[in-house]
Amino acid sequence: MKTPISISLLLLSILATASLSLLSSCSMQEKKQFVIGISQPCDDAWRQKMNEEMRREQLFHTNITLEFRNSEYDNARQCADIEEFISKGVDLLIVSPNVADALTDVVSKAYNSGIPVIVADRSVNGDDYTAFIAGDNRQVSRLMGDYVIANMPNGGKILELKGLPNASPAIQRHETFSKMIGTMPNFEIVESINADWQWSIADHIMDSLLHAGVVVDMVVAQNDQMAMGARAAADRYFGRENNKIRFLGVDAMTGDGNGIDAIIDGRLEASFLYSSGGDKIIRLAMNILEGEPYERQQILPSAVINRQSAEAMDLMAQETEHEVETIKMLKGKVDEYWHQHN
Ligand code: FRU
Repeated sequence: MKTPISISLLLLSILATASLSLLSSCSMQEKKQFVIGISQPCDDAWRQKMNEEMRREQLFHTNITLEFRNSEYDNARQCADIEEFISKGVDLLIVSPNVADALTDVVSKAYNSGIPVIVADRSVNGDDYTAFIAGDNRQVSRLMGDYVIANMPNGGKILELKGLPNASPAIQRHETFSKMIGTMPNFEIVESINADWQWSIADHIMDSLLHAGVVVDMVVAQNDQMAMGARAAADRYFGRENNKIRFLGVDAMTGDGNGIDAIIDGRLEASFLYSSGGDKIIRLAMNILEGEPYERQQILPSAVINRQSAEAMDLMAQETEHEVETIKMLKGKVDEYWHQHN
């Protein structure tokens, strides 16, 4: 997350960039224009945040157009979106594959046709891509494992809710977490079920388990949406006050109705930061397009977010939002002046 100070620096830099652009109108007109195709597997709150971060970063690059596609968890549709980008001849493709097996061929096809490809957040099989950038899923689940062990001194019964089968974050988060907890004597993973990253599916699973008499002390969900869905079902079953099950999630996103809100209002006990990194993805894309050096594998760090840090994050996010609005307003004014000047 950017601190308000770094946002202020951004603010200064956008003004400097804009003024320089105005002074050197010729060179700006000559800058090569790029079209970047962005293929997302869905449009949940986390994806919307990533897309918004990309649009925000776009403010600093006057020579790019971003084209977004959302395949609504449908592999065939995501393949078709990428085929469309290939035939259009986009200058660069950013793709977050719904699941690896179904998307690997079409991503390879784009890469082998000469389009630079950034694979973001979820991986493909093999290494037919230009660069990969994602949160550190192993670190996420190590932190989760540490948290569970430290905060449940007497052990307990755990329900693990996983994302889509064959999506790399789901596989990596499960492997690391189950290995850690599996070696602890007083813990039992009573069920480990795919809820496909979705609130409604997690709600349904939790509801069925509780009605079947399954006893759970803690739900460890691979994202906050699933943790909140399971919590909603348990609140209905026990009543909010009598619901003693503890809930952990992943993502730790700020914004209305997201994980940080749920930690602050007590529905989730903690979450583990999984950065969407949209701004970094666009900076990486610009380095590739403009022939600048770049790291081929970028892994973004995680952190545990509990009640205290959630409150701090929420305050900082509000500051950031305010600064971003100011940047957008200033950018609008610079653009307006630019058009008049021409
Ligand atoms: C968003 C999401 C996140 C999760 C990530 C894993 O679509 O489900 O909640 O952390 O994807 O790829």
